[in-house]
Amino acid sequence: MEYSLPLLPTISTSCIVISAALVAYGWYLIRKRNIEAHKKVMLWAAAFALLFFLIYLSRTIFVGNTSFGGPDNIKIYYTIFLVFHIFLATVGAVFGIVTLLTGLKNNLIKHKKLGPITSVIWFFTAVTGVVVYLLLYVFYRGGETTSMIKAILGF
Ligand code: HEM
Repeated sequence: MEYSLPLLPTISTSCIVISAALVAYGWYLIRKRNIEAHKKVMLWAAAFALLFFLIYLSRTIFVGNTSFGGPDNIKIYYTIFLVFHIFLATVGAVFGIVTLLTGLKNNLIKHKKLGPITSVIWFFTAVTGVVVYLLLYVFYRGGETTSMIKAILGF
């Protein structure tokens, strides 16, 4: 039977990768002292991060989370890695919002300190996100998907 990649996780993972690529480009732009372009590209990076989050959230609520479908003896390493990725993504989101606000408010002393830290956290979020995606859907087939709504309402 043919196995195709699941649509929503493929789109949302692409969003994280695009967002991280835009952050890298935005960093390059500010190194060239191109402030307006830096601002524009970083706002686009934030938009793609938000899009990722909205897709991820609606999938979690309406479709559910997919369990690891690989061998049982690897599952524990997958789970630890997943928790590490979720931790990075959460810290990255908080740092991202603060970095965006310091930029928009022209609080440049804080912004210059936070900018590189946020960017590096976001790069690692994207890389670990792609690894989670590969482990869940490409290297192994995803396991069962259970919906939060189904779990709560029991249908
Ligand atoms: C709309 C939002 C943003 C505005 C208006 C803005 C503006 C600026 C400005 C004016 C600088 C130059 C500071 C200076 O050299 O004195 C700067 C630097 C920087 N920003 Fe942003 N920024 C924004 C969002 C972001 C975001 C979201 C990130 C990271 C994810 C980021 C990462 C950086 C980095 C890495 C630097 C270079 C710091 C350095 O050279 O030490 N910026 N930003």
